[in-house]
Amino acid sequence: MKKRFYLAAVLLPILCFLAAGYICYSDQISTELPQNTGKKVQNNSSTVWHSENVGKSITNNYLVLVNKWHRCERTSDLCCVFNNKNSSYYVKDKMVKLSNEVIPSLNKMMKECAKENLSCKVGVISGYRSADYQSKLYDNAVNEQGQDYADHYVARPGFSEHETGYAIDFGAMNNAGENVRFANTSASEWMLNNSYRYGFIRRYPEDKEQYTGIALEPWHYRFVGVKAATYMKEHNLCLEEYLKR
Ligand code: DAL
Ligand code: ZN
Repeated sequence: MKKRFYLAAVLLPILCFLAAGYICYSDQISTELPQNTGKKVQNNSSTVWHSENVGKSITNNYLVLVNKWHRCERTSDLCCVFNNKNSSYYVKDKMVKLSNEVIPSLNKMMKECAKENLSCKVGVISGYRSADYQSKLYDNAVNEQGQDYADHYVARPGFSEHETGYAIDFGAMNNAGENVRFANTSASEWMLNNSYRYGFIRRYPEDKEQYTGIALEPWHYRFVGVKAATYMKEHNLCLEEYLKR
């Protein structure tokens, strides 16, 4: 009897100590996550970036949420942009692919964009990426710019929406055929104001990093359909906020 009492006296403080430690750890995780992901995430590694897919069910594939906390589970049906584009824009090379669902809207937007912005030509620089390719991009960014920079601008493999086929990186050329920064062009400004009419959103605005986990990327657009894009534009919501509303 005495022995049992002694055992309980020793074990109880240890258990209390472990429980208190766990509660503090959980709190720390929840404050590191954006407010809107809805689910606390914990895994075995020392970081909280990766989680299982906890996205809510959606009716349209192109509304799928992929971010630091939501893994890309599926790629849409892809096609070669070069073989399906119109003459209003260029594409980096014949390897660039996008979802079939995106091409008609992209062609329409590029046609209008070219009419309105005569001082430059817009190009599709990146579309679908495999997780292997994303892994190389992420590793390069870490090696060249450091971990902190990489996690602000490059998704880890498995967690990039480029893997869905619904994301596009745009570039631009001036009339002399020289590459220019897309963000500095009138086409970038035009797209920011008008892309919603074709179902595209600027995916990583400056004021939404707390929700998206990614810093401002003026070149990265995402197809979400006209209805969702218009709602987001009218209410100043990013995709995370839109899906949570
Ligand atoms: N640059 C975006 C976040 C990506 O790597 O998917
Ligand atoms: Zn991108």
